[in-house]
Amino acid sequence: MTTHARKRVLANWKANKTLSQARQWAEKFLQQELRDDYEYVVCPPFPHLSAIATEFPQLTLAVQDLSTFEAGPYTGEVPGYVLQDLQVRYAILGHSERRKYQHETSALVAAKAEIALSAGITPVICVDREEFENQLDQLDAKVRNNSVFAYEPVHAISSFGGHEDPLEITLETIDHLRRVAGSHVPVLYGGSVDPDNSLMYLQRSEIDGVLVGKASLDAEVFARL
Ligand code: PGA
Repeated sequence: MTTHARKRVLANWKANKTLSQARQWAEKFLQQELRDDYEYVVCPPFPHLSAIATEFPQLTLAVQDLSTFEAGPYTGEVPGYVLQDLQVRYAILGHSERRKYQHETSALVAAKAEIALSAGITPVICVDREEFENQLDQLDAKVRNNSVFAYEPVHAISSFGGHEDPLEITLETIDHLRRVAGSHVPVLYGGSVDPDNSLMYLQRSEIDGVLVGKASLDAEVFARL
């Protein structure tokens, strides 16, 4: 089980929000009554990171992806050290949308996780129910021991249908995942988490937090998780 005392609650905005909408979200979110036992983490699109980091230093930031390249002649890439400079704490890696639309392989995700760690950024590695043994197979011991895992059954993600599994199946799969990845690894759950079902996950000692897409887009809704 994890030693991280607070539950991690991640707002994955995906490809949503202009900068002014991102600022409005942050202002509204910080006016809400927030829980001390959660670590709230905001994952904006890349172009907003600098403004959010500077104007709202109370917010913990994550990125939704990270380059496999370090500094150098790699047009279009955003390397880890640039993100480290913006106080980014986490990087969501291998999200099922990236595996589907950008054809990311588990080997690529493993390479990104290495780069994240070398930039002092904790990988949040997304894995699916059917595939997680193969997805974990590519990760070396250093990555396994220093990452957070996000268990997200693809069919439960709102953009892929939003069909949630019964809680017992989720807990069984997380238990299996820990038997493969290591008994101590932090595991988040993701897939159509909203204020109506969030406590079912967050009250479980086996689940170290949630990765939230759709329900994170409204600051008041996200703060009610
Ligand atoms: P959702 O997305 O909460 O909209 O299902 C979760 C995710 O894709 O990480």
